[in-house]
Amino acid sequence: GLPSTYDGAIHIAVIGGTGIQSLPGFTLAATLTVDTPWGPPSSPISVLHHENDGGQSTPVAFLSRHGLHHEFAPHEVKNQANIAALRSLGVRTIIAFSAVGSLQEEIRPRDFVVPDQIIDRTKGIRPFTFFEGGMVGHVGFGDPFDAGLAKVVQKCGHALEGDGVRLHDSGTLICMEGPQFSTRAESNLYRSWGGSVINMSALPEAKLAREAEISYQMICMATDYDCWRNVDGEDVNVTMVMAHMKANAENARRFVGAVLNELTKKEHEVQVQAKHLEGQMKWMGAMT
Ligand code: ADE
Repeated sequence: GLPSTYDGAIHIAVIGGTGIQSLPGFTLAATLTVDTPWGPPSSPISVLHHENDGGQSTPVAFLSRHGLHHEFAPHEVKNQANIAALRSLGVRTIIAFSAVGSLQEEIRPRDFVVPDQIIDRTKGIRPFTFFEGGMVGHVGFGDPFDAGLAKVVQKCGHALEGDGVRLHDSGTLICMEGPQFSTRAESNLYRSWGGSVINMSALPEAKLAREAEISYQMICMATDYDCWRNVDGEDVNVTMVMAHMKANAENARRFVGAVLNELTKKEHEVQVQAKHLEGQMKWMGAMT
């Protein structure tokens, strides 16, 4: 069997969303069943060995947000456990994937978006912080994603444009509660707010990553036009989301591969270890 422990710190993690429950093409080095004060994460954590162009091997943690068999609905995802488990392995950089609805004509299904802003439309029912129960802390969230990490992702995405990857360098992500999709009035409201794309998974994941001093960037892949467009009479539905995810999974994997190849280069070591995020809070109890 595979080892169930891993010696040494793992600095980089990928969180897979709907349609990306695993990362084929990498060498599986270990499968870790981690426990945290917030319970077990959504899935066991796979440790993959990524060999970059220079022949250097780097461990990368992979976690399936919705579980190995998609058993957690967006509002049931174990976000605190997921982030705490990754942090306990030494993770300081997370690339998170998510299927999203497009709120703009020019963001077509199967396009990728590197969002730089989030509007929180979750309903406050998800556990959303590590800072409670006697551990008080406030972190800045003006820029919910990491600009340095975004730059790496953008560069890698554009390098794949010849292979049919279409990438939008920025965008405002609406994170709604779900699990039901939006009403047409809501969808139009989000458009009027300047929303680019919509999902159910960016929060509180991004907030918890920030609290844990982990550099975090989401890569969104559009699977539908939500329900605002309704040109051909078809609103978003799960079949549509899955079909586009499946059809574009190879591009998504190529995209992650390219990002990992870049991030594991020596020149990004400081970025990957998120030194720039250190010292935002005084104490983090169980997570230190
Ligand atoms: N995930 C994929 N498409 C979506 C949509 N239209 N709304 C919310 N989450 C989504």
